[in-house]
Amino acid sequence: MKAKSTIIFLLLFFLFTQKNVLPQSVKNIEQRIDSVLALMTQEEKIGQLVQFTGDWDTGTHSTEPKAGKKELVAEGKIGSFLNIFGADMTRGLQKIAVEKSRLKIPLIFGLDVIHGFRTTFPVPIAEASSWEPALVEKSARMQAIEVSASGINWTFNPMVDIARDPRWGRIVEGSGEDPVLGAAMAVARVKGYQGNDLSANNTIAACLKHFAGYGGAEGGRDYNTVDFSERTFREVYLKPFKAAVDAGAATLMASFNEIGGVPSSANHHLLTEILRDEWKFDGFVVSDWNSIGELIPHGVAKDLKQAAELALNAGLDMDMESNAYTKHLSELLAEGKVSGKTLDESVRRILRIKFRLGLFDDPYKYCDAEREKKTILNQEMKDATYDVAKKSIVLLKNEKEFLPLKKETKIAVIGPLANSTADPLGPWNQQGDAKDVVSVLQGIKNKCGDKVKILFEEGCSITGKETDGFGKAIQAAKEADVVVLVLGESLDMSGEARARATLDLPGVQEELAKEIYKTGKPIIAVLMNGRPLTINWLNEHAAAILETWFLGIRAGDAIADVLFGDVNPSGKLPVTFPKYVGQVPMYYNHKNTGRPYNPKDNYTSYYADYDNSPLYPFGYGLSYTKFVYENLKLSAKKFSKKESLQVSVEVKNDGKYDGEEVVQLYVRDLVGSVTRPVKELKSFQKIFLKKGETKKVEFTLTEEDLKFYNLDMNFVSEPGMFKVFVGTNSVECLENEFELTE
Ligand code: GLC
Repeated sequence: MKAKSTIIFLLLFFLFTQKNVLPQSVKNIEQRIDSVLALMTQEEKIGQLVQFTGDWDTGTHSTEPKAGKKELVAEGKIGSFLNIFGADMTRGLQKIAVEKSRLKIPLIFGLDVIHGFRTTFPVPIAEASSWEPALVEKSARMQAIEVSASGINWTFNPMVDIARDPRWGRIVEGSGEDPVLGAAMAVARVKGYQGNDLSANNTIAACLKHFAGYGGAEGGRDYNTVDFSERTFREVYLKPFKAAVDAGAATLMASFNEIGGVPSSANHHLLTEILRDEWKFDGFVVSDWNSIGELIPHGVAKDLKQAAELALNAGLDMDMESNAYTKHLSELLAEGKVSGKTLDESVRRILRIKFRLGLFDDPYKYCDAEREKKTILNQEMKDATYDVAKKSIVLLKNEKEFLPLKKETKIAVIGPLANSTADPLGPWNQQGDAKDVVSVLQGIKNKCGDKVKILFEEGCSITGKETDGFGKAIQAAKEADVVVLVLGESLDMSGEARARATLDLPGVQEELAKEIYKTGKPIIAVLMNGRPLTINWLNEHAAAILETWFLGIRAGDAIADVLFGDVNPSGKLPVTFPKYVGQVPMYYNHKNTGRPYNPKDNYTSYYADYDNSPLYPFGYGLSYTKFVYENLKLSAKKFSKKESLQVSVEVKNDGKYDGEEVVQLYVRDLVGSVTRPVKELKSFQKIFLKKGETKKVEFTLTEEDLKFYNLDMNFVSEPGMFKVFVGTNSVECLENEFELTE
């Protein structure tokens, strides 16, 4: 036995010291994992499953590890940190791991880079409004280049949760209500973060979150119960996760919520049967913050020890901050409640990602202070965030083509968000700094110079009830030709634990708008918000409305460029805007029911007290120009499962401006073995048309696009009649029909 272990040790010593002379096969990651695993003690294996935070959580926002954690690193009892960044800070900790610990296994450093690290990009729901996966990939690429220069090799993003309830504050962190758009955005972000070579020093591991179904929280209340059918779960909430796993995402994060009684962090069906057995995912899963510990209040674990047992046996590899694994895995292994095989499998997955990141070959490659200085918030980063911001703006209304503004106009810029430099950063802005933000007011001033008289009044606060600022605001409006009224939510009214029971403009903002309206001056409403808002009054009375979400540090420049026509807005809503919070959940791809709404028939599915249509539908967004759709054509009236169907439409730019249009293709399966949505987005193309230009836009439909989970829960297509819709949003479409045959 001794001889054998001596041979292994000698081989390993050779492996580690001669890494550049070994034949490629021996450098095969799986073999390298085997060799490390063979050397590890049980305590060192448990250490790899443990992640702790820097002092961030205690509000100090320090990036120092908490007391005692450096010693644990030296003992090989911590495998990862979160909320610790900086080339020097991470170098120091990595040095302890790879020089003081027995096996020199490098640490992996994670951080919430949701829409930028130091350079703040538009929030994810804004980027999704661009409907431009290539642009979103570029955004993620730039974010990775920046944060990797600060020692981070893993981001807890993209957030892939489908959200059909705008009361849920985290709708701002995702890509809206549709699984196809959500999948496209998730894949784009994985590609952007991970690049083509995960071992490069400017690529980072992605983390798909929150796995899964988190956005389905009842009532839109964060962390609340989730309970829907396996069919809805797979067809709507899991679809973007599956696409991003197939795109090579390195890690996932288990969600806080339960699904039908089983919390995700203890959900073997989710974490092992679906994720690993079906999808063949070979990366690792990290818990959400203390989500293992929360199995106790969920009521499925009597104590932290049982929580640890449930979580590891379910397939949850790394424990973020609950201490469950540190404290209890040794006992559980000794008692046989967790097997050594299970432990090894989790360690293997974590080592696999550390090897793929190249951390064993060069643990300090993310720790270059010179690169950090040159990269953080450089001009390339500032230009990149502007490029994304200008494409993320949605024009919701433009009565009589009121916009774009003429520069000689006298403008009153009014509202609680008009000169805000904090709120455009949005929630989860990481190291974003208000001093770097261009406010709407500043953006307009930058654009107009001193040629135009620009007045400014806040008028009111975002959430307060005071109206004593109304007088000055009204006076400014009276002196101006036009009012740019910047309204919405503060950055901390959406994001985690920020559910709202109403979707109205907070405070007295609508009252301010009504007072401004009485002056008779036209209002251009600029919305800054993290969720759809029920802005019925503005929709009736404003001359124009821009949805700008939270656009990051170049918000004011992008908004000013759209207001004055240097940029023709091209965004489309990734989420339905309801008229009333009582309509929620309201989403376009709903079922027809046995009694679909019919205004001529009382006994149908509707609200008797209010209008039943959305304020703005999914996929809606206007342009300064006008797009006309004609000649929707199909290559055949029917096609078999082995064939495909070509769908084409002509789109004409019939207006006065060059512009971009998102051409959307939806289908409806008229009869199935189970009920089917009235519409489902299947494809989209964003095209550029010069004024007067017409383009033929072509799509290909295959059987794959028509598959769903049938009555027996098999993912198949079924022959029969379908409708196809192509148009400028989910309501205004040309339509045709086709038959799918066997
Ligand atoms: C939070 C969030 C999650 C985040 C994690 C680490 O509670 O739910 O999105 O990545 O903790 O900060």
